[in-house]
Amino acid sequence: MAAKREMWGSRFGFIMAAAGSAVGLGNIWSFPFKTGENGGGAFLILYLIFIAVFGLSVVIAEMVIGRTAQKNPVGAFRALGGKAWPLVGYLGVFTGFVILSFYIVVAGWTIAYIGFMASGALSNPDATVLTDTFTGFIGGGVTPIVLAGVFMVATAAVVLGGIGGGIERASKLLMPLLFGLLLVMVVRSLTLDGAGAGLRFFLVPDWSKVSGDTFTAAIGQAFFSLSLGMGALVTYGSYLGRDTNIGSSAGIIVLLDTLVAVLAGLMVLPAVFAYGLDAAAGPGLSFITLPAVFAAMPGGMIFGVVFFTLLFVAALTSAVSLLEVVVTYLIDETRLTRTQATVFAALVCFVLGIPSSLSQGAMDITVFGRSFLDAADFLATNLLLPLGGLLTAVFVGWVLGPRAVAALTNNGTTGTALAPIWLWVVRVVAPLGIGWVLITGLL
Ligand code: TRP
Repeated sequence: MAAKREMWGSRFGFIMAAAGSAVGLGNIWSFPFKTGENGGGAFLILYLIFIAVFGLSVVIAEMVIGRTAQKNPVGAFRALGGKAWPLVGYLGVFTGFVILSFYIVVAGWTIAYIGFMASGALSNPDATVLTDTFTGFIGGGVTPIVLAGVFMVATAAVVLGGIGGGIERASKLLMPLLFGLLLVMVVRSLTLDGAGAGLRFFLVPDWSKVSGDTFTAAIGQAFFSLSLGMGALVTYGSYLGRDTNIGSSAGIIVLLDTLVAVLAGLMVLPAVFAYGLDAAAGPGLSFITLPAVFAAMPGGMIFGVVFFTLLFVAALTSAVSLLEVVVTYLIDETRLTRTQATVFAALVCFVLGIPSSLSQGAMDITVFGRSFLDAADFLATNLLLPLGGLLTAVFVGWVLGPRAVAALTNNGTTGTALAPIWLWVVRVVAPLGIGWVLITGLL
């Protein structure tokens, strides 16, 4: 207990680690396919609105909670709110297990795709061939499960070593590299024959496609992509120094994450149309279109290997933040050591991941008409994260209130003009808005 709490090496390091948590499979894998499933441009606009209004304000809210309490989410809500509030922390820990269980499955696919790219197995740009390769692989039974296990072990290894040196340093180097490669891919994708239709699909809203489900999917995606609603940023914020400017840090993190998602959309969707694929094809979208783009570009094999390697790294820095929440909680609140907590949490997630992986073709495991993986994603992303975000906003707005404003402005020294607007958003706008989307989505 008495040991001094670790702190981020620098503000830049913190921003890179938080951006490393935010930028992951959510941006490059799920954002393009969810945009495709939900009608394109209209989804993009809803997503951007939700990010700007609810996303940014709840990112700030989580950081304020973390830095004020300097504790894991359960402990932080208990210390600051007492009574029933720790339940929000428990909800977050539970959500972390659910997300990690399917996240490792998809991350395992990226490992396979590094190998497929390197071996030349994806050199035929024909969409049907690439689709068959993908469905054949994910439905293959044992191999995808083993790779999910490999990814889980890699994540656990980083968490075992502590975040300071490893993750902070790796993120600072690899995130800019991923960004650069993304730009190259966007240019390649936009210059393909027939890319225009994809660009139009992505940027021009077709409001006739919008329903309650579109709202639910957009808000869920916003929370998922920003790593919000389950205490990850409470945990990262708990390692922040007293004088860090939370408002501007949050702004940068949100901008970076949104930029990467939009770039991923510009990379994947034009290619989908250029190759005559179905934009609503679901989780396989990136894994089918990107190899098609690589196969058709000079040096594509090398770009492909590098790209899937970086996607793997992006997924790793995100998964680490998910596992860290669970592990920090277990260390603080039970008698487990970091090693025991990490091994235990990783094992549980891996076991939970097995039905997700099998549900992709090897076995017919469905829940409410969705594959087990999609169901876990839907439950966590569309329901639990927005719920966690809503409760976080209410907590900061109504329980902390003026204390939160003092924390955000570093006792009235920075951002004093914007803080009252923020307080109003977390008190009124966010709870009503998120609540409304959640309820219409359920009905
Ligand atoms: N944001 C990450 C992504 O886009 C996933 C993630 C990491 C996450 N930590 C989280 C999602 C916490 C929700 C909550 O891939």
